[in-house]
Amino acid sequence: MLLPPLFLFTLTVINNVSCANILYIDPVLSPSHHLWNEVLVNALSLKGHNITLIGHYNARIKAENYTVLKIEGMDILYEHIDIEQFMHTEQSLIANLKQIWDFSMDCIDADFNSSALAKLLDYPRNHFDLIIFDITCGQYLYPLIEYFGNPPVVSVAPIGLVPYILDIMGDHFYSYYPIYVTPYMDNMSFFQRVYNFILYQTDFLYKHYYINLMEAKAKQKFGKNIASFDEAMNKIGVLLVNYDPILDFPQPIAPHIIPVGGLHMQRPTELPQVTDLTADLLYIIKFNLNFQDLKRILDTAPYGVVYFSFGTNVQPSWLSIETKRVFVEAFRKLKQTVLWKYGADDLTDIPENVVIRKWFPQTNILSHKNCELFITHGGALSTQETMYYGVPVVAIPIYLDQKANAIRMENKLLGKRLDLRTITVEALYEAIQEVLINPK
Ligand SMILES: *[C@@H]1O[C@H](CO)[C@@H](O)[C@H](O)[C@H]1NC(C)=O
Ligand SMILES: *[C@@H]1O[C@H](CO)[C@@H](O)[C@H](O)[C@H]1NC(C)=O
Ligand SMILES: *[C@@H]1O[C@H](CO)[C@@H](O)[C@H](O)[C@H]1NC(C)=O
Ligand SMILES: *[C@@H]1O[C@H](CO)[C@@H](O)[C@H](O)[C@H]1NC(C)=O
Repeated sequence: MLLPPLFLFTLTVINNVSCANILYIDPVLSPSHHLWNEVLVNALSLKGHNITLIGHYNARIKAENYTVLKIEGMDILYEHIDIEQFMHTEQSLIANLKQIWDFSMDCIDADFNSSALAKLLDYPRNHFDLIIFDITCGQYLYPLIEYFGNPPVVSVAPIGLVPYILDIMGDHFYSYYPIYVTPYMDNMSFFQRVYNFILYQTDFLYKHYYINLMEAKAKQKFGKNIASFDEAMNKIGVLLVNYDPILDFPQPIAPHIIPVGGLHMQRPTELPQVTDLTADLLYIIKFNLNFQDLKRILDTAPYGVVYFSFGTNVQPSWLSIETKRVFVEAFRKLKQTVLWKYGADDLTDIPENVVIRKWFPQTNILSHKNCELFITHGGALSTQETMYYGVPVVAIPIYLDQKANAIRMENKLLGKRLDLRTITVEALYEAIQEVLINPK
């Protein structure tokens, strides 16, 4: 008679000890990072863990025991930039290296003043069993590690292997490994290697400068007796990094750096229904999407589908009128149906074969058998997705690692690369035709 209660009691105990309270620090101002991080959140939630995430975005998944503390008011990298102008002026490699730090500096006040952080600081100091930290940006939140009693810390880097992150893990970047903002391959000439090395040292100086700046600000927020950031970094035990074995080059890495390239890849599901709570509900409601219609378009496109998206940070609606016309006119010449992710309503004279929506379920499109081509900005996550589903690309990179991704894809014969600054109807049309007719 004692056995059943004993059994239940044991179960309860086991259950209690195996569920961890996890603090997920997701301070990167980029919806795509949030999506990547939520894949981990989802897996942890399915294992019964209780996850509290602090970051700039609402939950995009419905998971049990998942609470988001949303930092209000900061959710886009750029309000609106003149993309072409930006590409002309801001594209020096050194400016690109600096940019990633500026993304952090842009958020620091909003994050520190947020009610989300205030709420988090009200949690009991021993509440969390584990901290997961996306250390791409937002290093000024390191003091949270000490604040919550130094639980084990796992870091993640959807951005991939970049010098300032390897450095935290006590690993090094080598002059023969091209830094993420360069267009170099691993066959660099001697002078390219020298320049690569200089960029690496520049990144190191930026890191030193910005980490000090953040540390000073953090002292104002958390008190001047907090552990130094060097000490805080030493608390990080493991790094899960989005290292891609196909496009990234070989590089020696320490055993506590665990490559998880493609972690965010998910099996395609049925196209989401409006009533389906597990789907991207917020987007469906916000943009009033009709997925049945999209399914029909994908299933019945007589000449296949070309999918065009610049990702989550930059909107093609910010292009100049002339460049927008380049896309419209090149698409007009195609037989294929074009699905174009476009965030505004200002396009006129849209050809009949072009379907414009503010948002598309990218996985569903790339995994569809009729998807023939992806016109992409070459962001790391889009790049991995398109390789996973075997869709060739026309890559039109804008900044950061996108140019390198585009060059590497072209080099692996996964598609063609175009420069947005010199793009013409003919060049775009020909690149599309070449990839469509002659996919490698
Ligand atoms: C789970 O996390 C939520 C939100 O952070 C928290 O309020 C709740 O107390 C946690 N549950 C347990 C059992 O610790
Ligand atoms: C997770 O959620 C379930 C259902 O809401 C609840 O019964 C359980 O106590 C939660 N676990 C934790 C660790 O909060
Ligand atoms: C945040 O708070 C500080 C100090 O209270 C203040 O100086 C600053 O202007 C605030 N920043 C924002 C973005 O609200
Ligand atoms: C490296 O290889 C690429 C493609 O194979 C080529 O275009 C480039 O010129 C090479 N660079 C050097 C420095 O040899």
